[in-house]
Amino acid sequence: MCGIVGYVGTRSSVEVLLGGLKRLEYRGYDSAGVAVIDDHGHLDTRKHAGKLGILSDDLVATPLTDGQTGIGHTRWATHGGPTDENAHPHLGDEGKLALIHNGIIENFSELKAELLAGGHTFASQTDSEVAALLVGDAFRESGDLTTAMLSVVNRLEGAFTLLAVHSDQPNVVVGARRNSPLVIGLGEGENFLGSDVAAFVEYTHHAMEIGQDQLVTIRPDSVEVVDFEGTPVSPKTFEVNWDASAAEKGGWSSFMAKEISEEPEAVAKTIIGRVHDGLVDLPEVTALGADVLSSIDRVLIIACGTAAYAGMVGKYAIEQWARIPVDVELAHEFRYREPVLSPNTLVVSISQSGETMDTLMAVKYAREQGARTLSICNTQGATIPRESDAVVYTHAGPEVAVASTKAFVAQITAIYLLGLQLGQARGTLSPERARGLVAELQSVPEKLSTVLATGERIKELAHWMADTRSVLFLGRHVGYPVALEGALKLKELAYIHAEGFAAGELKHGPIALIEPGQVVFVIVPSPRDPSSLHAKVVSNIQEIRARGARVIAIAEEGDVAVLPHADEVIRIPLASPFFEPLLAVVPLHIFGMELAAAKGLDVDQPRNLAKSVTVE
Ligand code: G6P
Repeated sequence: MCGIVGYVGTRSSVEVLLGGLKRLEYRGYDSAGVAVIDDHGHLDTRKHAGKLGILSDDLVATPLTDGQTGIGHTRWATHGGPTDENAHPHLGDEGKLALIHNGIIENFSELKAELLAGGHTFASQTDSEVAALLVGDAFRESGDLTTAMLSVVNRLEGAFTLLAVHSDQPNVVVGARRNSPLVIGLGEGENFLGSDVAAFVEYTHHAMEIGQDQLVTIRPDSVEVVDFEGTPVSPKTFEVNWDASAAEKGGWSSFMAKEISEEPEAVAKTIIGRVHDGLVDLPEVTALGADVLSSIDRVLIIACGTAAYAGMVGKYAIEQWARIPVDVELAHEFRYREPVLSPNTLVVSISQSGETMDTLMAVKYAREQGARTLSICNTQGATIPRESDAVVYTHAGPEVAVASTKAFVAQITAIYLLGLQLGQARGTLSPERARGLVAELQSVPEKLSTVLATGERIKELAHWMADTRSVLFLGRHVGYPVALEGALKLKELAYIHAEGFAAGELKHGPIALIEPGQVVFVIVPSPRDPSSLHAKVVSNIQEIRARGARVIAIAEEGDVAVLPHADEVIRIPLASPFFEPLLAVVPLHIFGMELAAAKGLDVDQPRNLAKSVTVE
């Protein structure tokens, strides 16, 4: 949602904050701001509505007096529109305290009424300003920022990460978190706070997790963490396993173009080190215990957006390989209907960021109900893995473009590894069959590189279609979630009507949408598959073509049966059914990106969206 960065040390804080915000801008880009305590112990802020570039240009034109302590914020508006006034930081204690916030303070109206009655006035429409004024008042009583923050956090309801600085304590940044992300970067004579490690990876790879309901005080030479009762805690440290360059565009026109090009690597890195003697070896999963793995009688996958579609693909594979019933549920629909769970239910959450609030709350609920929880996550130090019994990390590297691409293929890879591990452990997959499937999964990255080579043709198609107002996507079996993902990408990136359908459902309603010229992408199953799905999908194509649809088929090499019926065929390499989604989705990712680019839109930061949605 919002991106947060804090710094205390010896460098120019404005430089550190702007660099950190640039890498966190994917979290929100409605407005941005910084607060800096300058060399004379004076606190100054600058903030603007609009993208980060507006703030940085202004800071170049009229620099702040710089100092070595500061906080910065990039916003995705919740309470109060994206205006200069509502941008963070917000001020307390007559301008001596600055505070930034990510999340929602649910009881802000009561607190605001109390502050108004006490004679305060408000400069913004945000819930966050309430926290700034409360911490400011508390500072006046205690003269210490940590004490002031501690006295306020327990009064706040909802989700928040708060960072504050006060001009009377020039070398201190205090942070607090409840259900919103915050990690600590540990340096030499300097320390950092960030919504995720991207905020400080340029300066340090040494990081520390901070748990729920904990508060951190950083100074140049110390980091102290306490819980909301004030009791010291010793958080876990970890090393960030990627470089700042991984979060840079590196010559690509957009982060999305770069991230699509990294899809082969995302799959390969997610597999590496997890196959021994041709079989899957996920210690993270086996650590749950052989008895637990054999007693699982149901898998429930919870996720949002693209991650949920990866989960839908996973359902087909786990059911087939491990013979366990699998349900997939949107995380935000899950906990509000008293779902039936048992200790034998394995709840698998999938989240690139590991911070999506809907998914986090669903995981917590599942744990409270006694289910086992396992998360598939791409971000080290994130909250969802920490709240789960086990975690299988995807190794896609940092994903910066708001709409997810490489994380999708990495998530499918991880859930396939899980399905194979469960099949191996439960004896539903013979070692020979498991080895065959593992070998095929290992061949995917090379095949993906071949698919990327079709990019130019897809770009041409997208540019011809720049004025298209609606595109439909059809798929069947594992191709169905791919159709949903293709449609989501087009909505997110190109802002046009797009829908994905199960091809078999077409005749039950959606076919009424077909009129001459309607573009329909069809993910065609392999003709080599013993099921009759290929023939059925080709019949579907004929049905829509007869009604004037313009069909773009994604079909495997050598599938000649589809040729007479499609206006355009995009080829993917031969693969058995479960591996087709990993290949077929890439042209759709490219198409979404290129159509948006053809319309002159910002593919990395689509309107109204945030990459990590940390509010419910
Ligand atoms: C947001 C993003 C989507 C993403 C979804 C789930 O809606 O815009 O691209 O798929 O969140 O995110 P997660 O980090 O949980 O995978």
